[in-house]
Amino acid sequence: MDIHTDIPLKNYTTMHIGGPAKFMADAHTPQELSELMMRAKSQNMPYFILGGGSNTIAHDEGFAGIIIRMMIKGYSVVAETAGDITIQVGAGEIWDDFVQRTIAMHASGVEALSAIPGTVGAAPVQNIGAYGQEVADTIVSVDAFDSQTNQFVTLKNLDCDFGYRSSIFRGLDAGRYGITSVTFRLFKTAPQPPFYEAVQRYLDQKGATIYTPEAIRDAVIAIRAEKLPDPTQLPNAGSFFKNAVIENWQFSELIAQYSTMPNYEMANQKRKIPTGWLIEQCGLKGQVLHGMRVHDKNALVLINESATGYADLAAAREEIRAAVRTKFHIEIEQEPLEL
Ligand code: EPU
Repeated sequence: MDIHTDIPLKNYTTMHIGGPAKFMADAHTPQELSELMMRAKSQNMPYFILGGGSNTIAHDEGFAGIIIRMMIKGYSVVAETAGDITIQVGAGEIWDDFVQRTIAMHASGVEALSAIPGTVGAAPVQNIGAYGQEVADTIVSVDAFDSQTNQFVTLKNLDCDFGYRSSIFRGLDAGRYGITSVTFRLFKTAPQPPFYEAVQRYLDQKGATIYTPEAIRDAVIAIRAEKLPDPTQLPNAGSFFKNAVIENWQFSELIAQYSTMPNYEMANQKRKIPTGWLIEQCGLKGQVLHGMRVHDKNALVLINESATGYADLAAAREEIRAAVRTKFHIEIEQEPLEL
């Protein structure tokens, strides 16, 4: 395995910020991954497993350890019945290539997650979700190398403790597991309405009445292209903040004041409020703060236009958080992980 030194992280993260990684190596197989993780641990060196870098923010001082680039490829159908198909996918496969493959198989379950940047192995970490689907809905299990026991393990869906943009991989057990593959159960039945409002609107406009996985994928790709900047053209990390989850009592107070506030009911007496709406209400949509532009089509997304580094991004983030705190008394949380 080649180990490279002093590699600028800005070239490996879609936000295009970040100083040098001391070391960087590619893991093409589960064995290579486990060797790199064990070697780093034995030398007391931090490690970080990087997929597409589309949900990762690096610091100006870089990373004083080893970045392990996830390159494990491969697809295998592990079970098939009349109604479903179970497929194991290497963590280093490109997420959207996988989605495209499921469409070609006429399988449903991840079509609404079309065009999300990044790798398959990153999907469970933040439980990617969009347009009415969450990856946790189709994940059967996650295979990983456990750096605590030095063994390969299979974590069942429930073991991953999936929640809204959360899992053990970014929560309690952050850094413990090196994900090698993800196993999904997809369905041979067509996607069922009700669909996410914007998707249904698109389908209606097209006069679509047969809801194939492909039709949903096409709708999602078109909606995303309209609302979300392409990270290869405009540096960004998708939604920069999570949507806000607040207690029902606070929601009652806010809705009395802001009757048009979009909101979604959640379990446990909570409500989800779109942070993009909160930021927009603060008058920040389209504004540039410290070189970071609040996207004019979705205020949840920050685009790095001319930030000189992490400090600019942090200053923009804090100004936005403070504005939302002052106006709504809500603490908004960053969505991408930090290296
Ligand atoms: N809204 C505004 N102003 C804005 C942005 C949104 O008023 O600037 C309102 C919209 O009008 C709508 C609601 O907020 O009523 C929700 O907006 P949208 O459907 O665009 O979705 P979102 O909440 O901004 C979330 C995900 C996206 C995902 C979309 C679609 C999070 C953090 N983000 O965004 O995921 O694609 O829903 O399902 O949950 C990502 O995580 O990187 C990501 C792009």
